[in-house]
Amino acid sequence: MNGYRLGATGVVATFFTIVTSTVLLPMVLFNPKPSGHGNDYSKTAVAKVSDPVRGRQIYIREGCVYCHTQFTRLQDRGYGPLVKAGDYVFETPHQLGTARNGPDLTNEGVKFPSEWQKAHLVQPRALKPGSIMPSFSFLSNRDMNDLVGYLQTLGNMRKVESFVEAPTEYKAALAKKTVDTAADASANAGRGIYTQNCAACHGMEGRGNGPNAISLLKKPANFTRPFYKQWQDDMWFFRITEGVPGTRMPRFGEVLSPEQRWYLVAYLKTLPTNNEQVVDSIEQLNPVDAIRLPKLSNQLWEPETGGSHGE
Ligand code: HEC
Ligand code: HEC
Repeated sequence: MNGYRLGATGVVATFFTIVTSTVLLPMVLFNPKPSGHGNDYSKTAVAKVSDPVRGRQIYIREGCVYCHTQFTRLQDRGYGPLVKAGDYVFETPHQLGTARNGPDLTNEGVKFPSEWQKAHLVQPRALKPGSIMPSFSFLSNRDMNDLVGYLQTLGNMRKVESFVEAPTEYKAALAKKTVDTAADASANAGRGIYTQNCAACHGMEGRGNGPNAISLLKKPANFTRPFYKQWQDDMWFFRITEGVPGTRMPRFGEVLSPEQRWYLVAYLKTLPTNNEQVVDSIEQLNPVDAIRLPKLSNQLWEPETGGSHGE
């Protein structure tokens, strides 16, 4: 064999070794099991009220992936738990994305209420002044509903029941609580804290009718609705700690100690839950065109025509 042919054989052999070890072997051997945290949204209960699978196609069609990623990395903060390979078993084509012009959406599900999501898609700047996200108000009602359904399934195999479940880190907080949330004494302590911090909005009896309620667009919650019977301690604690994004509900984690927040939980659980039902589920949401948001152009002050300024 002459030197030339030996060299050529070497080049070809090296090429195939590299291709085999970096492409072909992983394709065959890398076969992660579903992690249970993947987006197998077709099986989620959201599917009853919207079609998240179709919503995903709309996500792809509208090119959301050009601005949003769906993977969390070690150095990311505030985007929720890190992703694992098994999270993507149901993802073809995956929506990993490469650019983060907007935030990562891996754990977007249940981060905001569906109404917030819709309003944000219709007019991003009404909710996030200065946002560069385009308006998707041209989507039909059905498209919008399915797209929001898809967003709500992102992360952790969320089911509709889990829309009223606190994130997992609050299970750990529950294990560490130092207050007996079933005791009358705790509830009494919580009552004082409630009167000072919450009654102005949520009302003296927790009916959501405090004096401040009148000036709030999104009314404070009425804790006497039967809906709150199902709330567990960790959910109360979660909401009091982190507030409700998109509403005036403050993050009391910044202000009150964990003990004080647990006393509040104890008090809130003693409220009667027999008051009327109010809209809260995804099915009862307003259709898109019923969401009234200010048009950007109308927010600008425009001089009246035909005036006599300085003429
Ligand atoms: C031109 C880039 C761009 C495109 C395209 C885009 N977005 Fe956004 N998006 C952003 C930016 C920037 C933000 C952050 C500011 C804001 O919240 O409006 C954002 C925020 C969001 C948020 C809020 C995330 C959070 O947790 O705060 C959601 C949800 C979202 N986008 C969904 C979508 C969906 C669904 C689509 C496709 C229909 C889409 N975006 C298309 C740029 C984009
Ligand atoms: C500035 C007014 C305001 C104050 C003060 C306030 N809240 Fe709220 N609260 C709200 C609003 C508005 C909501 C959102 C209701 C909704 O999402 O429908 C809310 C929601 C909640 C929720 C979640 C309800 C749900 O269904 O998700 C809890 C729990 C809560 N508040 C507890 C408290 C407690 C406890 C305090 C006092 C420590 C307090 N709030 C003080 C306005 C307020």
